[in-house]
Amino acid sequence: MWGGRFAAGPASIMREINASIPFDKRLWKQDIAGSKAHVAMLAKQGIVSQDDAHAISAGLDTIAAEYEANGVPVNLDLEDIHMVTESRLAELIGPAAGRLHTARSRNDQVATDFRLWVRDAIDEVEAGLLGLQRALVARAEENADAVMPGFTHLQSAQPVTLGHHLMAYYEMVRRDRSRFADARARLNECPLGAAALAGTGFPTDRHMTAAALGFAKPTDNSLDSVSDRDFALDYLMAATQASLHLSRLAEEFIIWASQPFGFVNLPDAYSTGSSIMPQKRNPDAAELVRGHAGRIMGCMTALCVTMKGLPLAYSKDMQDDKPPVFEAHDLLGLSIAAMTGMIETVTFRTDRMRGLAESGFATATDLADWLVREGGIPFREAHHITGRAVAAAEAAAVPLDQLPLETLKDIDARIDDRIYAVLTVDASVASRQSHGGTAPAQVRARIADAKKELG
Ligand code: ARG
Repeated sequence: MWGGRFAAGPASIMREINASIPFDKRLWKQDIAGSKAHVAMLAKQGIVSQDDAHAISAGLDTIAAEYEANGVPVNLDLEDIHMVTESRLAELIGPAAGRLHTARSRNDQVATDFRLWVRDAIDEVEAGLLGLQRALVARAEENADAVMPGFTHLQSAQPVTLGHHLMAYYEMVRRDRSRFADARARLNECPLGAAALAGTGFPTDRHMTAAALGFAKPTDNSLDSVSDRDFALDYLMAATQASLHLSRLAEEFIIWASQPFGFVNLPDAYSTGSSIMPQKRNPDAAELVRGHAGRIMGCMTALCVTMKGLPLAYSKDMQDDKPPVFEAHDLLGLSIAAMTGMIETVTFRTDRMRGLAESGFATATDLADWLVREGGIPFREAHHITGRAVAAAEAAAVPLDQLPLETLKDIDARIDDRIYAVLTVDASVASRQSHGGTAPAQVRARIADAKKELG
């Protein structure tokens, strides 16, 4: 394709290091769409004849059908998807194929294809995250009243509800979706027609190609158009953030599934057995989601490092932009699907959660708050009194709400029997009525809003 000024062909190692077709064949649909939009514009502007444009467009359709049926042939001599397609077009329609590459370069071509691909990838992720949100909301609604221990430092802190805990992940995923939506809006400008780096002398209509490909507008600087990979980085950064959330959720499932916790029974469908220990049921899917987050972050880092030192405009380093994005997308898709499946099918052992919530003196703050509210005692002093009550309960090996009133009165005479109404875990969660708090009424209100958000 470019051999005019060369006397010798490439060394075999050159052919190998240079070729991107083994991976960029994934861009074939976008490449065909970009070429069809380009040739339609060339014809309308009188840059190629209608007949040639028609032959080119029909040839591209034939190639698309071939790729669909048989896959893209990987020929390292032809380097990349752009050349593989153009060379097949030449086989199909003859020399007119050579007119397709008028007023463009592979630099703007690949930038366009890759933007289109990332845009489709974002739409797939969006659909996946929406499904995950629906699953979270459904399980949260079922468990809006189910009391569990809430943790700080992984120490039992205050009772919360399982519904509230699951809705925390709903909020994370909501932010993830908004990051992907931002990335999509920002990438939706079309670099096609920027040509190699400086624009073109042909009377092109870049607005026409941008519109045909569903972009909001053409990009405004030809150098930036061919050297920008922000859209790929935006995708990878959003993917990294989303994968961190999935990994934290996975981590909770791993802890919850362990015998000392026993908060969940993971479904068979997302567990594996051990070849040596028959009793085992391992949370492999969750562990792999946790592992994949590391790899996705690695993909993000790889592209950051590729881009950080590049002068304008295109450099071949940028060919390395695609593998990390493809890899991250595949890993993220698997992670979303696995966590959605687990959320939908996991058995929550709410009896066990309640039992642990009741055993960890988790209502100590409620006692302190009551002393402040009903006794007019400063919070610091109330905290101290409560600490002594916890010590007494610990010594007697009973939950706070089973301490005899005399014991409590010995600790502080201002305590009376009204205290028992606030020391149960149900009373504790029901009292947390602040906006966004764990009271079942608050959680149900958020769930109702979430359902509206999800449409
Ligand atoms: N395969 C190349 C890539 O992915 C296409 C652009 C090549 N442009 C060039 N001037 N060599 O980046």
